[in-house]
Amino acid sequence: MSTHTWDAVWLNAQLATMTDGDNSDNGGYGEISDGALAVKDGVIAWVGKQSDLPTNDQTLATHDANGAWITPALIDCHTHIVYAGNRSNEFEARLNGATYADIAAQGGGILSTVRATRMASEDELFNLSLPRVRRLMSEGVGVIEIKSGYGLDLDSEAKMLRVARRIGETLPITVKTTFLGAHALPPEFSDNADGYIDHVCDVMLPNLFQAGLVDAVDAFCEHIAFSPIQTERVFARARALGLPVKLHAEQLSDQGGASLVAQYGGLSADHLEYLLSAGIAAMRRANTVATLLPSAFYYLRETKLPPIDALRTAGVPMAVATDCNPGTSPLTSLLMAMNMACTLFKLTPAEALAGTTRHAAQALGLAHSHGQLRVGMRADFALWDITRPADLSYAMGANPCVGLVLGGADVERGV
Ligand code: NIG
Ligand code: FE
Repeated sequence: MSTHTWDAVWLNAQLATMTDGDNSDNGGYGEISDGALAVKDGVIAWVGKQSDLPTNDQTLATHDANGAWITPALIDCHTHIVYAGNRSNEFEARLNGATYADIAAQGGGILSTVRATRMASEDELFNLSLPRVRRLMSEGVGVIEIKSGYGLDLDSEAKMLRVARRIGETLPITVKTTFLGAHALPPEFSDNADGYIDHVCDVMLPNLFQAGLVDAVDAFCEHIAFSPIQTERVFARARALGLPVKLHAEQLSDQGGASLVAQYGGLSADHLEYLLSAGIAAMRRANTVATLLPSAFYYLRETKLPPIDALRTAGVPMAVATDCNPGTSPLTSLLMAMNMACTLFKLTPAEALAGTTRHAAQALGLAHSHGQLRVGMRADFALWDITRPADLSYAMGANPCVGLVLGGADVERGV
């Protein structure tokens, strides 16, 4: 008599479990060679060496991984993937000599995406955004965070967040939404940033929360965006509603944003090129994830590196994300972001993979259920035709993903 009933089992796999604290292989991948993995009710029911697999007559489906590597499905924990229009015209203008300031003075930059996003119908916005998400999925992504922030009025922010929810209902991917009302100052409030923050706190956030559209709250704390005092007002309102916070912090200058978001028990502080030691200590104490966005660094030709060594030494968990957006990171490849995290920021390939699995899960408040191959966690995993896990960060432009299983079910990988 069998003591286990499983819905499916995968045999002949190499596993990179990415489990917490399991560095016994010294590589940081939690490797299990000649491994197997079983699934029941959408959850990982067994994982280990195939030779230790209990015999089980009642497994409904047996899959042969044919020696493929299996990792947790990847997680993109910072995107602005729902938007209309694009800004290749600005990209081209800059390369023909225009400055960022010239472009902004002509109404370009974030506000040009706001105009296009406001004008797009909900269906148009959905149809523009869906293929971008499919491209991420084609590379083994199973969870994505999607921010608002190109609407900047109640109706347009609601439209963006509804599109984000609809993506999660249409595709088998898990979507976490983030309200980023405090992204830029909309034209209706020009010269009245405090008035706009009042509107964000008193009208937009409560309404969108009521509508069930908000899983977390973000802001852009920067000299060209909102001050720490304005940011803190948004955080206080989020806390009153019981919503977790995160922050675009220290991207262009040190504003003390990382300390501020840590003070609010924030899930993550993101970008961090100008992060100083006080911010690192505060993040360590609060267990706030450092989300690194190397493609925005690349695209803006930034030269100031985030303090990777200091974050590593302090033991601050580091995530890696695409920051997919039309202005500073038109990127729909999380593998490319991992490559850039290694080449530009000198993460090790194991750190880059932890950054798109275990630590990215933590950055979304999903550490208990996602980002590791561990019994009891959701059966979200990707199969790869690679020689070793470092290949995921090593290759550029290759897509070695040969399978994606989400909630225990084999899914279409799009494109
Ligand atoms: O994460 N830093 C602010 N926001 C985005 C860029 C948005 C845009 O330029 O459209 C970012 O880089
Ligand atoms: Fe961003």
